Amino acid sequence: MAGRGSFSNKLGFILAAAGSAVGLGNIWSFPFEVGAGGGAAFLVMYLIFCFILCFPVMVTEIAIGRKTQLNPAGAYKALGFKKWSILGLQGIFSGFVILSFYNVVAGWAFGYFIELLFGHFEIGKQFGDFTKDVFKVGSYAMVFMFATAFIVSKGVAGGIEKASKILMPTLIIMILGLVVYSLTLDNAMIGLSFYLVPDFSKLTLSVMGSAMGQAFFSLSLGMGALITYGSYVGKGDNIVSSAAFITLADVGMAFIAGLMMFPMVAYLTDGTMEGAGQGAGLIFTVLPGAFESLGSTLGVIIGASFFLLLSFAALTSTVSLLEVPVAYVVDEKGVRRNRAVWLIAGLIFVIGIPSLLSNGYSGFFTNFITYIGAENPTSFMDFAQNVANDTLLPLGGCLISIFAAYIWKTKNLNEEIEQGYPGYTGSFVQKYLNFAVMFLCPTVLGIMFLLTFLQTFFGINLF
Ligand code: TRP
Repeated sequence: MAGRGSFSNKLGFILAAAGSAVGLGNIWSFPFEVGAGGGAAFLVMYLIFCFILCFPVMVTEIAIGRKTQLNPAGAYKALGFKKWSILGLQGIFSGFVILSFYNVVAGWAFGYFIELLFGHFEIGKQFGDFTKDVFKVGSYAMVFMFATAFIVSKGVAGGIEKASKILMPTLIIMILGLVVYSLTLDNAMIGLSFYLVPDFSKLTLSVMGSAMGQAFFSLSLGMGALITYGSYVGKGDNIVSSAAFITLADVGMAFIAGLMMFPMVAYLTDGTMEGAGQGAGLIFTVLPGAFESLGSTLGVIIGASFFLLLSFAALTSTVSLLEVPVAYVVDEKGVRRNRAVWLIAGLIFVIGIPSLLSNGYSGFFTNFITYIGAENPTSFMDFAQNVANDTLLPLGGCLISIFAAYIWKTKNLNEEIEQGYPGYTGSFVQKYLNFAVMFLCPTVLGIMFLLTFLQTFFGINLF
């Protein structure tokens, strides 16, 4: 296992895993998914998925990773189930797809840092032109991929850990400050009730499907990222409490991002909430206007630092996404770490080019595909998100739980969890986790996967 480091201690792992979880998923896609999904009804579903269904999958991923000390594909093989390494490969493929579009959005965030640094608050209204400027945005994305590859090439303990430690708490404090500010704005209560008072008539199958996809995406689950990170966890650490911390940190971060956003949307739309469902542009169109209302000096300081910190949050996530295929070729193919990092980063950047072009620049990629039964075409980038977040990740989560419960066997999973968690056997936690892994996750995730898959891509509604 050439070039494989380990986290310096338990805190190192937790911070890095939380750094992987907290990223654009919390601050960029969570608010726009809430907006598109009709507000609080989405939030409720999201919370249910995170705590009830995703949490057991997270424990399982970390346990498999620690047990085998390997990348996802190698892990299944090492446990003696060679065929299941396909599931690991599916995860590695998901990681490729996710990082390819994620890096583009990270490039936007970084570009916004620069724009706001120069006081260009009008960028919010020019978001469409901004994303169309593919040479500029492409350069930001390239810088971002470069930074990701640089950190990953330094190995886990050196790069990932250090980056997570200072920046995450700073981002939390900043968002909390912005929550306080946004609650003082006109119409804040309208935004807040959109976000927090559920209207269950809005709860359709597609809202549930996107809540499920968002939960997996935000928690970095379903593709083996946490198998890879779990492979760096010490035997004395408590997997369950680590997973609980990561889940709470991630959900908490998304939740406060929503508290910050929706009062701002209400304020900027005079209480109509129009545009809350606009999709991927939400934070990029809304935030600059809100920063501008802070006045030019404070607006520049807060606005630029916000997008800088968001870029760092994205960086700790891109690092975890790149780490998965890198660990795979290092472990399985014996490629030197450095070479693996730069080759794969370059490849993923290239795979991301259609996403880069699909936000207005190229008509072909912008109107890439029209799903059966859909009115409007879907852009390449949204297509990639539908495939990865809403399809591959939940399917991965479902299969990982089936693997752990019935192939590897719950008994072995329990044995692994017990290490570092002495009172585990016989506890309520054990009963719940076993029930979830054996019955709840396979059935609920399996059914939801099937229903949303058929509906999204083929317009078939079995409900
Ligand atoms: N969870 C990250 C976010 O919310 C994105 C991410 C990083 C991810 N690693 C992952 C998503 C692995 C799925 C799988 O921004």
